[in-house]
Amino acid sequence: LTFNTSADASVVIAHEIADLIRDKASKGENAVLGLATGSSPLKVYDELIRLHKEEGLSFKNVITFNLDEYYPMQPDSVHSYVRFMNENLFDHIDIQEKNIHIPDGTLAMEDVYAFCADYEAKIKQAGGLDLQILGIGRTGHIGFNEPGSTVNSRTRMVTLAAVTRIDAAPSFGGIENVPKRAITMGVKPIMKAKRIVMMAWGSGKAPIVKQMVEGNISMQVPATFLQNHDNTSVFLDEAASEQL
Ligand code: GLP
Repeated sequence: LTFNTSADASVVIAHEIADLIRDKASKGENAVLGLATGSSPLKVYDELIRLHKEEGLSFKNVITFNLDEYYPMQPDSVHSYVRFMNENLFDHIDIQEKNIHIPDGTLAMEDVYAFCADYEAKIKQAGGLDLQILGIGRTGHIGFNEPGSTVNSRTRMVTLAAVTRIDAAPSFGGIENVPKRAITMGVKPIMKAKRIVMMAWGSGKAPIVKQMVEGNISMQVPATFLQNHDNTSVFLDEAASEQL
């Protein structure tokens, strides 16, 4: 799905999410959302905040699971995805604190495995992800599932690809400050989402978008696994779609 601008596309995505939340609320059910960080979803979050403030959209019945977090990472750091989510979405809506889940970058190494198993168990307990939003990294990663991640990969600790750390370097004030690891939801739990919304904006994403959409399905480009998901839409602006 190609739109003139990322703003146009983001409004459509936000409205789909809002419809899901309202539909679930009308049945007395929760909406379970998989959320992403990075610049790609920012305009979606802006529109969801606007819908909350101006049109009374409530997030009381929303349960969220974020894809990933750097490791190690303190939640109050400017680089943490906890802080990112608070500043860009959660602080501005009426979501209940207990319904927010983000991988914990403060765990001791030996506790990560159990945490990850529990994270997936909580998704299951909540009824599974109704809708997962995704951005794509230049390596073709989804979440932090870098090249080499299999379709069966679980939620786990990963080592970040060099390109990913280079892309993050400016915001960290140098590559030496970018964590070498992260905790990410695996490809398997992502693929279990009932609906996946992938978004990519700008010409910098055009080459990897082409590989994701037209390339062979391969763990060299984990986003190609989405070709096998039966309810995924790829939202692009003109620039991101220019090589298709
Ligand atoms: C990070 C996140 C990914 C995100 C990617 C793309 O690596 N962990 O989930 O998709 O960045 O970032 P951006 O949306 O800023 O291009």
